[in-house]
Amino acid sequence: MVNGVDTSCSGGISDPPTLARAAVTGCGVDMVTRAELTALDALEGLSPVRCFSEWDLLEEAIVGVASGTAIPRESERMIRSTIPAEWHDLFLTKGGEPFPADIVDAAQAELDHLANVLAGIGVVVRRPDRVDWSARGGHTSAMPRDCLLVVGTSVIEAPMVWRSRQNETAAYRGLLADYAERGARWVSAPRTDPRRLESNTGRWAINDAAPAFDAADFIRVGRDIIGQLSHVTNRSGVAWLRNVLGPDYRVSLLDVDDPHAMHIDATVMPLRPGVILVNPTRAPDHVLDRSPLARWERIVVPHPRPPGRVPRYMTSGWINMNVLSVDYERVIVDPRDTDLARRLDRRGFDVTLVPFEHVNAIGGSFHCATLDVRRQGGRESYV
Ligand code: ALA
Repeated sequence: MVNGVDTSCSGGISDPPTLARAAVTGCGVDMVTRAELTALDALEGLSPVRCFSEWDLLEEAIVGVASGTAIPRESERMIRSTIPAEWHDLFLTKGGEPFPADIVDAAQAELDHLANVLAGIGVVVRRPDRVDWSARGGHTSAMPRDCLLVVGTSVIEAPMVWRSRQNETAAYRGLLADYAERGARWVSAPRTDPRRLESNTGRWAINDAAPAFDAADFIRVGRDIIGQLSHVTNRSGVAWLRNVLGPDYRVSLLDVDDPHAMHIDATVMPLRPGVILVNPTRAPDHVLDRSPLARWERIVVPHPRPPGRVPRYMTSGWINMNVLSVDYERVIVDPRDTDLARRLDRRGFDVTLVPFEHVNAIGGSFHCATLDVRRQGGRESYV
């Protein structure tokens, strides 16, 4: 059934790939070898970070904070490639300024409400630091999924090719140090000066001169990590990730039909083993038929969400499918997405409605604004 949850809100630049794990003291970072990292796998049952899927029972999650969000300042090609056309001028002229305060305040209240809903069903909720991103030339602490990738017992800091996002994981530094001190692997991808990656020709706004990826261009399906190339993820970034994850994982790319591709979590969203929520425009049958998910049942998102009262500055209407699974059955959906909620309900999911209109305005929805740190379940093969 669709649960009518109360809808009022309470409330460097470097070159060679680097594998790093925080020292046991948590006050520094030591270089470790792949053999040591593999040996650490034996400890995976003890790690506070442990996540192999998008659907196993959620035990601990980071929920973003909106306070301090700034309008990102990026190259013209990047803005025109990834931001909805009606907002190009705003981003090109106001990049670096604080995001409108009324939207940020309302988004903060929605995120606090989501944190309360998750805590109310037994999830341990952690929050990043509040950072004045306008003062620091950054963007936001609201979207942990974009910059951090949890695979197994590793938490990987993505390189982030947007110049406004390269220091975004600073907001999570305390949490990452705590997880590493208690046994997680903390791996940081090499960052490259975005100017080196700029491309003014070709399909994508970046070239392949150095590894680049955002964490949100990948989803977890047990041993399979499904990703996409995009305006922020290149082949070199995918190769880096394959190398770091090693033979225990298979990283496959979907050849999505999305000229504005940036983050795969409004394109495909696995809901439980064998069942995937699908954007019919970006991931039509011929794309999925050639993927590891070919045999999975497809629940098609009925339509993108129409424009609403609050401007959707940074996302498409397909942000409606950026849902968060609490377990095999429970999934968090926005109350505006009635057709999607009904479709999931009919397919046997238990839908919890949480309003998120203002969070959407600053660039994402439930999946983007959370990072599942620990879920039950293991490294199975599901395809
Ligand atoms: N970039 C994705 C979209 O806007 C999340 O649909």
